[in-house]
Amino acid sequence: MASYKLLLLPGDGIGPEVMGEVTRLIDWVNTSGLATIETETDLVGGCAYDAHGESVSDATMKIALEADAVMLGAVGGPKWDGVPYDKRPEAGLLRLRKDLELFANLRPAICYPALADASSLKRELVDGLDIMIVRELTGGVYFGEPKEITDLGNGQKRAVDTQVYETYEIVRIAAVAFELARKRGNLVHSAEKRNVMKTGVLWNEVVTQVHKDRYSDVKLEHILADNCAMQLVRAPKQFDVIVTDNLFGDVLSDEAAMATGSLGMLPSASLGAEDERGRRKALYEPVHGSAPDIAGKGAANPIATIASFAMALRYSFDLGEAADRIEKAIADVLDQGLRTGDIKQDGCKTVGTREMGDAIIASLKSAT
Ligand code: IPM
Ligand code: MN
Repeated sequence: MASYKLLLLPGDGIGPEVMGEVTRLIDWVNTSGLATIETETDLVGGCAYDAHGESVSDATMKIALEADAVMLGAVGGPKWDGVPYDKRPEAGLLRLRKDLELFANLRPAICYPALADASSLKRELVDGLDIMIVRELTGGVYFGEPKEITDLGNGQKRAVDTQVYETYEIVRIAAVAFELARKRGNLVHSAEKRNVMKTGVLWNEVVTQVHKDRYSDVKLEHILADNCAMQLVRAPKQFDVIVTDNLFGDVLSDEAAMATGSLGMLPSASLGAEDERGRRKALYEPVHGSAPDIAGKGAANPIATIASFAMALRYSFDLGEAADRIEKAIADVLDQGLRTGDIKQDGCKTVGTREMGDAIIASLKSAT
């Protein structure tokens, strides 16, 4: 039986609560004999800063680099508002993405039929929605230098962030998007701002070339990122795969999340390049944040994290069938009318994190 090492980084806020439900799913994988998943648990974010004065320690990074996959809960919260910029909780997450070279962030936005009424958009616009946002994750304005605030000495300051992209970064993320599209609806929208940004001009040029050279069987549309944002709320079902840079991807994926009913539903996978053995470094995390307002209350929606674990089974552990079963169990409990607070609905039963986890596991077990 295959054996894998999974590093769990629950992090801050609701992170530990939602990750708690994943550890129960890991037990299910292990006891059903599907694979052996060995876990180690460590700190990231504000809790790591409190313990070590760093939002991720070198020792944790070493474990992450050696693991087959990493699962992260959430980082950040008002408690750490005052910590120095390079030690803030988010810096730990950014270091993980950068040092593991996880350039491809896959954010599927799927609207479960049972949740179509929880969306802020009309049911007919979102029912059956299935979009994959492919966000570039290790470049762009998140990491470009210079990135600084200078005191101009006259009572004024000057802040600079730098958006940088090189050809190879666009080639590899475009290839991920086209490959995914081939297995889905065969359509890629590439979103940038070529009308005002040089990086947008290069992005457009390189995506066009990659398409022409290697993926002319896939339909490609270029779209300005602002128009893409508008189209996502006007007619989201026109999209299949959207490929975009780090910052636009951050914004567009939160927007797409709401079409599915709640940010609490969206999983993500961040993948590196394939090595000689065909394996990729990977980090799986819910798209939602640490939700400090509900942390510790047992009220958080664990579905995004559970669905992120399903992505880990699919992309890192070669257990696509088990991933399908988990996704089916999520759909089942929603059909049964169970809802956490973020997706609560008249006529449905509002449950907490643990009860939602219990119901998903019960549905999984009854299906076997
Ligand atoms: C996300 C988050 C992060 C990002 C934050 C926490 C740094 O919003 O994963 O979308 O901006 O990438
Ligand atoms: Mn975000």
